[in-house]
Amino acid sequence: MTKVYAVAGNPVFHSRSPVMFNTAFRELAVPALYLRLAAASGEEVISTAEQMGVEGINVTSPFKTDIIPFLHRLESAAERIGAVNVVVKEGERFIGHNTDTAGVLHALNKGGFDPKGKKAVVLGAGGAGRAAVFALVGSGAEVVLVNRTDSKAEEAAERLGCGSLPFHRLADALEGVSLLVSTLPVRERVVEPGLLKEGTYVLDANYGSATALGRDAADAGCTVIDGREWLLGQALPAFALFVGRPAPVHVMEKALWKKRRDSRKNIALIGFMGTGKSSVAKSIAALSGLNVIDVDRNIERKAGMTIAEIFNEQGEEAFRRMEQAEIDSVRSLSHHVISCGGGAVLNRANIRVLRNTCISVWLWGDTRTVIERTGGDTTRPLLDVDDREAKAATLLRERIPFYGATSDLVINTAGRKPKELAERIWNEVHNTIED
Ligand code: S3P
Repeated sequence: MTKVYAVAGNPVFHSRSPVMFNTAFRELAVPALYLRLAAASGEEVISTAEQMGVEGINVTSPFKTDIIPFLHRLESAAERIGAVNVVVKEGERFIGHNTDTAGVLHALNKGGFDPKGKKAVVLGAGGAGRAAVFALVGSGAEVVLVNRTDSKAEEAAERLGCGSLPFHRLADALEGVSLLVSTLPVRERVVEPGLLKEGTYVLDANYGSATALGRDAADAGCTVIDGREWLLGQALPAFALFVGRPAPVHVMEKALWKKRRDSRKNIALIGFMGTGKSSVAKSIAALSGLNVIDVDRNIERKAGMTIAEIFNEQGEEAFRRMEQAEIDSVRSLSHHVISCGGGAVLNRANIRVLRNTCISVWLWGDTRTVIERTGGDTTRPLLDVDDREAKAATLLRERIPFYGATSDLVINTAGRKPKELAERIWNEVHNTIED
């Protein structure tokens, strides 16, 4: 059976974890897939993982601390740091680990920096910042933690055995420093360029497009270590925890650094019946100005029949052919949001069109949500059976690998209104669509 893993965060669309892990799974022929989960809280990360049967999660900002109350146990470093970036399912229990420490040390080692006896400043007292402090203190560095909310830095410093200074004393903190690690989730300037001295090592946890800190540090003659080294360094032990085998380092490294240009300008909504694809598509269109295509409604309009009538009179095969033709027509479009029927991803040709031309968002709903939302509805021929719940559960389980392989992002719809889901989806992807 295909095992499912995910990176969970908010935002999460930028994450390079899926490409690293999916490439590694392919390389080692591990029957698994790795998703991006757009979540609203640590609690939702775990409830979604439970519903979908997710076996392992990489947790990113802002959930590294929020998720802790929903885990069954923390491994010792995660406990000390008070942050979790990897969750592994053991039986029915979710166990929290911290591999960010390994990530920081991997990045510093890659950059040729030995922390022992050096003075270092860590910016940001969130989960990633605290893991950086833990790793640096453990390697014999003298660390000062600086955070925009002072009290948070003081508390973490006490717990982790380092110094702390308020943000307005950043200049003092940086005096004579050999290393600056920034974990603030911002791309704008927060460190005045004048404070950056030639020869200082700078590691910014933000990766992808250049940050103000990365640019200013390079201009000042600092040695800048790319945040992707940290990402890789935390992913390698995570892979081993997930799969029980050593990570294929070079394959993951290559996948991570490969340049990609995303030219997809449509959003496709995929997912099971009753997950709200049509209404979320309309809400996205309303707030973004994209045009809507509802595949099922187009089929009904062209056939002059309802879906149930097509299934009854012409059979499912005929319906699937009409569906493929509709999805194929998306290839020439841009700036559309496409609501796909629940079974569209069962067809390879459809998957190819969706993957090449759309950012595909999987609207997840567990069986209970699906049954509640489709209750009393006779328009869905596949659920027109005696035991709807059992049928829905079986179909959903069978389809998870297909939705998973097609999607760029998954979002849990349980208890959420279409408008909220639309806003969250649009926040994640608008830069790519509008670019
Ligand atoms: C189907 C889902 C339906 C419709 C048809 C088949 C499926 O769309 O395309 O009944 O195979 O899951 P919705 O997901 O919009 O209900």
